[in-house]
Amino acid sequence: MSGRRVLGLMSGTSLDGVDCALCQCQGRNQIELIRLWSAKFSSTLTRRLHAAARGQATSWETGRVHHELGRFYAQVAQEGLHNDSVAAVGLHGQTIFHDARKQTSATFQIGEPAYLVESLRVPVVANFRAADLAAGGQGAPLATLFHRVVFAQRGQYVAVNNLGGISNVTALDWTDRKSREPRILAFDTGPANVLIDLAVRELSGGRLKQDTDGRWAGRGWIDIEQVEEWLNHPFFVRKPPKSTGREDFGEAFWRYANARLRKKRLKREDVLATLTWFTARSVAHTYNRFLRTPEKALPDRVILSGGGAANPVLREQLGVAFSQYAPATQVVTADELGWPLNAVEPAAFALLAHYRLNHWPANLPTTTGAKRPCLLGQVADP
Ligand SMILES: Nc1ncnc2c1ncn2[C@@H]1O[C@H](COP(=O)(O)OP(=O)(O)O)[C@@H](O)[C@H]1O
Ligand SMILES: [Mg+2]
Repeated sequence: MSGRRVLGLMSGTSLDGVDCALCQCQGRNQIELIRLWSAKFSSTLTRRLHAAARGQATSWETGRVHHELGRFYAQVAQEGLHNDSVAAVGLHGQTIFHDARKQTSATFQIGEPAYLVESLRVPVVANFRAADLAAGGQGAPLATLFHRVVFAQRGQYVAVNNLGGISNVTALDWTDRKSREPRILAFDTGPANVLIDLAVRELSGGRLKQDTDGRWAGRGWIDIEQVEEWLNHPFFVRKPPKSTGREDFGEAFWRYANARLRKKRLKREDVLATLTWFTARSVAHTYNRFLRTPEKALPDRVILSGGGAANPVLREQLGVAFSQYAPATQVVTADELGWPLNAVEPAAFALLAHYRLNHWPANLPTTTGAKRPCLLGQVADP
């Protein structure tokens, strides 16, 4: 069983750029972070990706941006690697469409891998979600394997909650010490930063892209009743496995929410406070509904990752929201455990590429809903 140095590249639903994690993978259960770097999309590329993700790009434009993004990834990878060697790449790409409903299922990640193959001359694994979808699964979430390998703890019930554009949770219940594996549930809980980012962008007239450190939300008043009403959205009622995206909690939801909040004359700080609470509240509400163990316990510990974990107001609101159901639940961040917040997702795709190149199935059918364990990703060889 040989080790392999793999570069993982992840661009999430926030459409903010790419995070790159150079990792050493060994066997099935060892992964170490060597180096991490990130690059923002240019404003032109951001605009084009937003249009594509909204369904407003023609097939010609989608083709162009697919290749443009492929060249961008190759450049960022090569510049970040300097002279470091790498044996393979795991490229998630940028999701511009994801629909996991059985009759109409489709998923589309763009960013042509051939440019990475050409510049690095190593195998590039991409298109990770299609096989699971074809096997009847949701094609998501896929970082579960990584969470299991890195964060599961015998004797404990932990949850890993990534706060990207969308929020997803991996619950690892290993309270039964004698059991060989933890009981695992993983699914999207709803929005994380998507609505917050859209609100800030619009309410600052395009000047700001995110509510850095929760500066606006921290000064606002929360419309608690409005948030309770939003929790009636069908997504929160649906049982896991489930996944969501900008299709449910993106531009259309923001336009509707903004209209409601404007009618009530909320200030922009109030809008941000309310949307941030919507994220925190929907996460806790979802845990209470779907993550209680047979003994009716909630996780001992919640490990936060992704950009939203850097927002102190969101972190504090999550603490408040959890305390309604589980006063003993401890909230920590992944970087307190040695994994920088934006390393978790790209490292997960490095591990998935390593699994693919070893011909090891990497989806967990109980979490994605697939009929069988599948090899995830398609390999482009140099
Ligand atoms: N210091 C911060 N304060 C508040 N929000 C932040 C901060 N840093 C990052 N974010 C949020 O995190 C988002 C990016 O998170 P990321 O994990 O990259 O998501 P994705 O995987 O969807 O790209 C940004 O769009 C922003 O909303
Ligand atoms: Mg990102």
